[in-house]
Amino acid sequence: MKGIILAGGRGTRLRPITHTGPKQLVPVANKPVLEYAIEDLKDAGITEIGVVLGNLGREAIQQHLGDCSEYGVEITYIIQGNPLGLAHAAGCAREFVGDDDFVMYLGDNILDNGVVELVESFEAGDYAAGIALQRVANPEQFGVADVDENGNVLKLVEKPDDPPSNLALIGMYVFSPAIFDAIETLEPSWRGELEITDAIQSLLQDGHAIDSHVVEGWWKDTGKPEDILEANRLVLETIDDTRNGTIETNAEISGTIDLAESATIESGAVVRGPVSIAEGTTIKSDTYVGPFTSIGKDCEVEHTHIENSVIIGESEVSASGKIVDSLIGRNAQVKSAEGLLPEGRRLVVGENSNLKL
Ligand code: TTP
Repeated sequence: MKGIILAGGRGTRLRPITHTGPKQLVPVANKPVLEYAIEDLKDAGITEIGVVLGNLGREAIQQHLGDCSEYGVEITYIIQGNPLGLAHAAGCAREFVGDDDFVMYLGDNILDNGVVELVESFEAGDYAAGIALQRVANPEQFGVADVDENGNVLKLVEKPDDPPSNLALIGMYVFSPAIFDAIETLEPSWRGELEITDAIQSLLQDGHAIDSHVVEGWWKDTGKPEDILEANRLVLETIDDTRNGTIETNAEISGTIDLAESATIESGAVVRGPVSIAEGTTIKSDTYVGPFTSIGKDCEVEHTHIENSVIIGESEVSASGKIVDSLIGRNAQVKSAEGLLPEGRRLVVGENSNLKL
């Protein structure tokens, strides 16, 4: 069994963060989303992994992952280029996959329980594909599967007005190489993409058996800023307390803190976990870092109250107001304008930004 991780795409829903980098490298609890996919594949015994790259952030991903030997997996980079759809991305991996079965994992998705059970369920039968499903409250906004009592898929429908079930397709699949011939027969959908649901539906129509596995535990697609904050919350709930950095006397800390070795919490700062603070970052005195906050590498945070937020890295935050539910991109400066006239908020707001004042 091999694995492919889809790390191309446009990332429009995550602009402006994706103006300067790929969404798959956005950190959740200070680890890029993409690395969770690699770990899940490795946990399922998959060590030959193809990473499908688009145009956006291609070099950044290659530079970040390198040859991935530190994970004990072997990475092959596959160039998709323009994002012509999930099925197109899968089709680009045909040569890499060869005659093997493979897991396809969307590189911006993150799962509580990994893909071991999905793979086991697929391998227990003679299936051309296996799909991961999760029960959702709003199936009309997803691809939805109609399945029989044994989990065999009967039909797939994309964003149905009248859903046959509440079982939504999430971002992990297992395929036999039969999927490649199905992909070759596809025509672009109304949104101009080759859809993976159409490819699976075509396998069904050709009489192939398709397995399904209902994933328990949480699953998050991190395509939007609020999803990143939620994924960050969910992962921070599971982190270990690793206070490797410097905690000065008179710093007040409680809860689970993942504090990198070269990070510092200065005297007079208050940090209430779960919180993750990365290498080279300083939490200065007179600062409150509240639960469910991740602060990336080489940041300085002072005179600030921040909670339930993600600072990606290399930023300076020194603001008197409360910062909550925020995603702060790399190399940002968030400062107070107190004492300056005229009074008011001073903003340099990038294209497609999203501010709530
Ligand atoms: P999506 O989030 O569905 O698409 P997108 O990345 O273009 O995002 P947006 O809708 O915000 O513009 O993609 C899911 C994953 O699959 C993500 O990791 C990107 C990847 N992908 C590809 O690798 N190739 C593609 O052609 C597409 C559409 C997505």
